[in-house]
Amino acid sequence: MTTAARPLDLVEKLATFSEHWTPHVLTELNDYQVKLAKLEGEFVWHSHEDTDELFLVVEGALSIDLPEDVTVELAKGQLYVVPRGVPHRPRAAAECHVLIVEPRGVVNTGEAGGDLTAERDRWVEGEGPRDA
Ligand code: NI
Repeated sequence: MTTAARPLDLVEKLATFSEHWTPHVLTELNDYQVKLAKLEGEFVWHSHEDTDELFLVVEGALSIDLPEDVTVELAKGQLYVVPRGVPHRPRAAAECHVLIVEPRGVVNTGEAGGDLTAERDRWVEGEGPRDA
């Protein structure tokens, strides 16, 4: 269903959900997923032992806390790749919209788990796996 020759509009797709900290899959490429998420407040410290994680800010501003009191501040249009295994804590003073790229199957809270753990493979409205 996603093979149609049409663009995926980030702003349009972000308008289809409002929950915070619940990544929605937009599309896939090879074994990777491109996800959209709305973030506000402070997430949990966590790490992903097997993978890097890319954050691209589409709207607003995102802080990513890293070990040793390092914080990466991202503005709209800026991205950062959290290296595999590195503890990180995304944080947004005001609602921020991000695009995330990571392998299929990654859990948002990594090894930390807890209340903010989101369902995997939740797709944005109108999209779905190509080979389903
Ligand atoms: Ni993460």
